Amino acid sequence: MTDFKKIISHAKEYGFVFPSSEIYDGLSAVYDYAQNGVALKKNIRDYWWKSMVQLHSNIVGIDAAIFMHPTTWKASGHVDAFNDPLIDNKDSKKRYRADVLVEDYCGKIEAKIEKEVAKAAKRFGDSFDKEQFVATNPRVVGYQEKINAILKRLGQSLEKEDLADVKNLIEELEIACPESGSRNWTDVKQFNLMFGTKLGASADSAMDLYLRPETAQGIFVNFLNVQKTGRMKIPFGIAQTGKAFRNEIVARQFIFRMREFEQMEMQFFIPPGTQKEWYEQWKQTRLNWHLSLGMGQENYRFHDHEKLAHYADAAADIEFKFPFGFKELEGIHSRTDFDLSSHEEFSGKKLQYFDPERNENYVPYVVETSVGLDRMFLAVFSWALREESLEDGSTRTLLKLPAVLAPTKVAVLPLVKKDGLPELANQIVDLLKWEHTTAYDEKDAVGRRYRRQDALGTPFCITVDHQSLEDKSVTLRDRDSMQQERIAIAHLPKLLDEKLNIKNWLKKI
Ligand code: GAP
Repeated sequence: MTDFKKIISHAKEYGFVFPSSEIYDGLSAVYDYAQNGVALKKNIRDYWWKSMVQLHSNIVGIDAAIFMHPTTWKASGHVDAFNDPLIDNKDSKKRYRADVLVEDYCGKIEAKIEKEVAKAAKRFGDSFDKEQFVATNPRVVGYQEKINAILKRLGQSLEKEDLADVKNLIEELEIACPESGSRNWTDVKQFNLMFGTKLGASADSAMDLYLRPETAQGIFVNFLNVQKTGRMKIPFGIAQTGKAFRNEIVARQFIFRMREFEQMEMQFFIPPGTQKEWYEQWKQTRLNWHLSLGMGQENYRFHDHEKLAHYADAAADIEFKFPFGFKELEGIHSRTDFDLSSHEEFSGKKLQYFDPERNENYVPYVVETSVGLDRMFLAVFSWALREESLEDGSTRTLLKLPAVLAPTKVAVLPLVKKDGLPELANQIVDLLKWEHTTAYDEKDAVGRRYRRQDALGTPFCITVDHQSLEDKSVTLRDRDSMQQERIAIAHLPKLLDEKLNIKNWLKKI
């Protein structure tokens, strides 16, 4: 996988992601999406939306406001419980999330496991059975047991709000400040992550508001409106994409952890008692959605939570292998009836459903799927970026984006800027642009133009040459194989449709 610094610089150099307000030296953990980034982001969002809303007759979408009545966040538990455990290093004055310090420590042990596996794979060659090795090698088993014990204790201490024990754990593991190397720590304290703001102009009457830290609550407060106006029958889902805001203390790793980010969430309302089955089903459906993009099964894994959020009776992450290791990409949470019951209590309004099959009223249970759009962007972008050595000894930078997500699907390149080739190339752009984002590029030698499109992730280049004028054929170059085939212009729409139509990708789920 490509070095993380290269990923960040490629994202900037090729117009995907810029630091926010860069002329003022940027704003920490806030980013702007540039001309190509916004297209990639929109394609990911569309891929999610279509799979959720268009392909499920029992899932509908909404777009709730970012500002919500402040009582929402009392009811949801965010005012009281949306905290991170923080610890300061007295020497460096740097602040850390205590749980992240411990998890990073475990990450180092995990790296040792990977090293052992790589060594063994080399030693045993084709006969190497990774699963068996990991399950039986005493050193690896020892490492894994150590990780499990540490994470279990961390989970239990956090659940019991035993912050003194979290500090004890950090001290027992002899975790040092990454900046100063010192082990001079303060106590662990809780810090609320919501951003506050005010609604209204006058100082006396202004109302304290929060910027929403998750989109989900906009769905819960609209549950009955949607159920009634859409005549929805349980089980049904409500999907939403939109911005969320968190005052992250350890905001780092580029767009992995941001202060302003976008979520794609779906709340699935179900009868009480059926949550286990639906939870398992949505875990698998969501993993299949990721796998349909073709970024390799080995790059995903589930991580079942030891420490459950205040609203959940089961929770798992789909983790992706980012350049800095396996990390959470998406969360699947069995949220019980916590949110709806709590909103009933705080609002005094009934949020119940009459189930004609059970002939009873109940507060529905909820299974939620929640994926960060920016984090998904980073997963796709970091997986796709690679340096390839070519047969002629040269190298090329390739952004091997899943074709369905690529910002530009086709680039049309006249071989030279004269003899009527640009005119024919532009006619081809006009033919294709209705279905696919199509670029026209006539600058520089054609080889350099191919390289440019490779680095932008454009799956296909069409080259118009002198033969094209005679027989109305062009060459179609495949980004990944670099193979070129001669094809009639009239056949281009059908062929490109086969490769790029979102339908052919979503069918794999
Ligand atoms: N409604 C449930 C919820 O918000 P979460 O696990 O806190 O659950 C869901 O967040 C997803 O949102 C995460 O899996 C991640 O992809 C994304 N996410 C959370 N915090 C983020 C941040 N600070 N920056 C970018 N993405 C974030």
